[in-house]
Parts: sequence; structure tokens; C-alpha cells
Amino acid sequence: MILASSLMFIQCTSEAIPGTAGIDGTNGLDGADGLNGVGVQECVACHSNTHRDAIYDAFALSQHAEGATVAYAGGRDSCSRCHSNEGYVNFITGKTAVAIANPTAISCTTCHNKHSSFDFVNDGNDLALRNIGPTPLDLTDVGYVIDYGNKSNVCVSCHQPRSKAPVDADNDGLYLQANSRFYPHYGGQSTMLEGIQGAVIANGSTPIPAAGSAAHRTGASCTACHMGASTDGGEAGLHTFNASFSAPICKTCHTAVPTEVAGLAADMATLHDKLFELGLIAEDGSTLKQTELIPFKTAQALWNYKTVEEDHSHGVHNPNYAKALIKNALEAVN
Ligand code: HEC
Ligand code: HEC
Ligand code: HEC
Ligand code: HEC
Ligand code: HEC
Ligand code: HEC
Repeated sequence: MILASSLMFIQCTSEAIPGTAGIDGTNGLDGADGLNGVGVQECVACHSNTHRDAIYDAFALSQHAEGATVAYAGGRDSCSRCHSNEGYVNFITGKTAVAIANPTAISCTTCHNKHSSFDFVNDGNDLALRNIGPTPLDLTDVGYVIDYGNKSNVCVSCHQPRSKAPVDADNDGLYLQANSRFYPHYGGQSTMLEGIQGAVIANGSTPIPAAGSAAHRTGASCTACHMGASTDGGEAGLHTFNASFSAPICKTCHTAVPTEVAGLAADMATLHDKLFELGLIAEDGSTLKQTELIPFKTAQALWNYKTVEEDHSHGVHNPNYAKALIKNALEAVN
């Protein structure tokens, strides 16, 4: 009976007339697009120990790592921003300069910290560098901002001068050079590359090239020449920070890479002898304090000598500018 009646009901149901279709539901909202993916492989390629080992090896050869001046200058308030890890981090994070008790040498986290964004596709990979933006010459000319448009901006906070060319305030053509530290400081590479802050000697017959016009400034950069592929058996390139005449970038412009700025070393030697004769420098080139007035042009010549000497590139950073500074200086002392 049960079996029979159940068959009957099935029969009835299957023969029922269908109702009208319900109203379509509204479409859901479109989901937000995901960020463009960065494969974890990309992170690993840069963050792996094998990749880092090579960087540590190169960095061990760098003067930054050696930190020969840390003990002397790394703790002093006005020097520490360039001469120690602690001083630079203090400076770049906007704090006032302080004396540092146990300064350490420049290391990975002096320049690197954390990524400002992981959206490398849209924002670019900042390589977790602390400072890649345009950088002012805050110690000598805060209004002059250097922007290489690449990671070389990192170098500018430290590789900039600490003092400026002399000024003839009373316009009498004379100058009292009473400073044994009459020089821009050893870190003037960014201003040399830019072609600024040398002394412009009145009526100098060699014209000074326009600021920012040098081929090495417009077509190369600190990182391109100093941190390119490893050369010289690992002694130059990458994180050794050492430039080399065999850096691959040089060959993009020079068919035969010149190994010196023609004539500059000879002119520097003549200028050295003249300034030494005048009692303005010691034999080793260090500046001597004066008690009497000297011609302003001579003070400018001395400034240019120190500027080219302390840039330490022997004029390579800006050949035409360096030549002009020294040619005009020679004219002035002669
Ligand atoms: C081209 C190289 C490069 C790539 C690619 C890269 N990073 Fe980094 N990252 C660095 C450097 C350099 C530092 C600085 C600190 C260091 O040396 O570890 C850093 C720092 C960091 C830090 C903070 C410091 C730490 O070790 O905790 C984190 C977190 C980080 N990266 C995560 C990532 C992630 C996640 C990715 C992929 C989405 C990535 N990175 C891709 C170079 C890179
Ligand atoms: C704006 C950054 C900056 C400041 C501030 C600074 N220095 Fe330097 N200093 C440098 C750089 C960069 C070099 C290395 C340049 C090179 O070797 O070509 C250097 C090199 C030196 C050297 C080595 C000179 C040599 O013979 O090669 C001494 C010594 C020195 N600094 C002392 C000091 C003292 C002392 C102070 C503070 C009174 C000071 N520095 C402040 C950037 C700075
Ligand atoms: C004086 C600043 C400075 C110091 C110190 C420094 N770096 Fe760098 N690092 C840079 C700059 C600038 C670049 C970008 C180079 C370029 O654009 O060619 C870079 C690039 C990198 C990269 C990405 C390129 C590559 O070779 O994979 C990694 C990773 C890195 N650094 C890790 C390190 C580690 C690890 C240390 C410590 C052993 C270190 N850095 C120390 C300035 C520094
Ligand atoms: C935190 C400050 C700081 C930053 C940033 C920095 N440097 Fe230096 N650099 C120094 C100091 C200080 C010295 C001198 C080392 C010493 O004797 O203690 C130096 C030395 C050097 C030397 C060796 C000079 C020699 O006498 O052999 C080179 C080359 C150099 N830096 C290139 C660079 C480049 C290129 C960059 C940018 C990618 C850079 N530095 C970024 C402070 C800095
Ligand atoms: C066109 C390539 C080029 C550019 C751009 C360049 N350099 Fe150099 N730099 C060199 C060469 C080559 C030398 C070595 C010259 C020599 O040994 O006679 C050098 C020397 C130096 C030295 C002295 C090294 C020593 O052994 O005493 C420092 C410091 C330095 N450069 C820093 C910088 C900084 C900072 C920048 C960017 C503001 C920069 N350089 C831009 C090629 C370059
Ligand atoms: C963007 C092109 C370019 C690159 C890259 C370049 N140079 Fe030059 N270089 C020039 C030009 C152009 C001159 C001529 C002077 C000028 O116009 O500034 C020159 C001049 C020189 C001089 C002086 C020659 C003289 O007698 O006056 C030397 C030395 C030199 N370069 C070395 C190098 C080295 C070393 C590198 C690589 C680390 C390099 N250059 C990379 C374009 C370049």
C-alpha cells in the first residue's frame, strides 16, 4: 500500500505545471583589482644568503667599511653625519647633531633600512635605501639641490663640501687667509661633478663650463662609475665603491678610455711649487695660515688647488672644469 501510494505521488509531482520564473538576482559588485604581483622569487633573488655573500665580500674592500676616520671624526657632532653609522642615521632621520660615544663605521644599514613600498612595478624598488631623493648642498648652499635621477643621490649628503670659496667682502683685491683648514673638505665630489664652488677668478682666460654640463655628469653617475659590474679582480665596482678605468660604463662613450686628464697633473705640480714658494702651503700640500694680506686672486688660486686635490679623482670627475680652475689659478699666481 505504502509503496503503491508513494509511486502515485511521484507521478502527480512530475506532472505538475511549473510556476513562473523568479526575478534575476542583482549582480554582485566587481572585486577590487589585486596589486600587480611580485613573485616571491624576486624577493628571494635579492635577499638570499648567496646573493648577499658577494655583497659582503665586496663591501669588505670598501673604504666605507674600513672606516679609517671613524675614531677621529665619527663621534664629533659636526663630523659624525658623514663619518659614522650612528651619526649619519641621526642626521638622515632629521635629528640634531650630537656627540656619539662609540661610533662605528659605515655599514649596510647606514644606507639601507626598509622598503618604502612593495609595489615595485608602480613605485620602483627603492632597494630599501634611506635617501634616494634630491639632496641639497645643505652645508654650503642649501638652495642648490642635486638630483641625479638615480640612486647616486645617496652619495650627496656625505660627498659634498663643508665650506665655500673665498669672497672679497670689501672688494679691495686683498684677502686675509688665516685658516689652516682653507679647503672645501675631502668630500667635494658632488660639486666637482656638478662643476660648481670652485673660485671663479676675475678675467681668467680659460672659460668655466656651465654648471651641470659635463658629459660625466649628464651621461654617467656616481653609481654607474663606482658601483657597476665587478672589475679589476673584484677590487672595483659593486659595493667596493671603487671606480675603475675598466668600468663597463666608460666604454659606452670612450673607444679608448683615457687614463688621465691630459696636462692636469703637470699643471697641478707647477701650481703646487708656486704656492709652496709663496709660503701658502707646506710641501705636502696642506694649507698654511697667513698673518698678512695676500692678493685675493692668490687666495682663489689656492682654493682651486685644494678643490682639485681633495676631490681625489685627479680631475676625472669633471676634466674641463678641473682644467679651467687650475689654468686660471696658474695665471693668477704668475
Ligand atoms: C633588488 C634587491 C631587493 C629586492 C628585489 C627586494 N629587496 Fe627587500 N631589501 C633590499 C635591501 C638592500 C634591504 C636592506 C636591508 C638588508 O640588507 O637586508 C631590504 C630590506 C628589506 C626588509 C627590511 C629589513 C629586513 O631584513 O627585515 C624587508 C622586510 C624586505 N626587504 C622585504 C622584501 C620583500 C618581501 C621583497 C619582495 C616583495 C623584497 N624585499 C625585495 C633589497 C631588495
Ligand atoms: C659632509 C660630510 C662630511 C663632514 C661633515 C665631514 N667630513 Fe671628513 N670626509 C668626508 C668624506 C666624504 C671624506 C672622504 C673623501 C675621500 O676620501 O675622497 C672625508 C675625509 C676625511 C678625512 C681623511 C682625509 C684624507 O687624507 O683623505 C679626515 C681626516 C676627515 N674627513 C676629518 C673630518 C673632520 C675632523 C670633520 C669634522 C670637523 C669632518 N671630516 C667632517 C665627509 C665629511
Ligand atoms: C654607502 C651606502 C651603502 C652602503 C654602506 C651599502 N649599500 Fe647597498 N646599495 C647602495 C646603493 C647606492 C645601491 C644602488 C646601486 C645602483 O643603483 O647601482 C645599493 C644596492 C644594493 C643592493 C641591490 C643591488 C644588488 O647588488 O643586488 C643590495 C642587495 C644591497 N645594496 C645590499 C647591501 C648590503 C648587504 C650592504 C652591507 C654589506 C650594503 N648594501 C651596503 C648603497 C649602499
Ligand atoms: C654616510 C656618509 C657617506 C655616504 C652616504 C657615502 N659615502 Fe663614500 N665615503 C664617506 C666617508 C666618510 C669616506 C672616507 C672613509 C674613511 O676614511 O673613513 C668615504 C669614502 C669613499 C670612497 C673611497 C675614497 C678613498 O679615499 O679611497 C669612495 C670611492 C666613495 N666613498 C664613494 C661613495 C659613493 C659612490 C657613494 C654613493 C653611492 C658614497 N660614497 C656614499 C662617506 C659616505
Ligand atoms: C665618469 C665616471 C665617474 C663619475 C660620474 C664619478 N666618479 Fe668618482 N671617480 C671616478 C674615477 C675613474 C676615479 C679614480 C680616479 C683616479 O684614480 O685617478 C674616481 C675617484 C673618486 C674618489 C676618490 C677615490 C680615491 O681613491 O681616493 C671618490 C671619493 C669618488 N670618486 C666619489 C664619487 C662620487 C661621490 C661621485 C658622484 C657625486 C662620483 N665619484 C662620480 C669616476 C667617476
Ligand atoms: C657619457 C659619456 C661618458 C662616459 C660614460 C665616460 N666618459 Fe670620460 N669623457 C667623456 C667626454 C665627452 C669627455 C671630454 C670632456 C668633457 O666633455 O667633459 C671625457 C673625458 C674623460 C677624461 C679626460 C680626458 C682628457 O684628457 O681631458 C678621462 C680621464 C675620462 N673621460 C675617463 C673616463 C672614465 C674612467 C670613465 C668611466 C669610469 C668615463 N670617462 C666615462 C664622456 C664620457
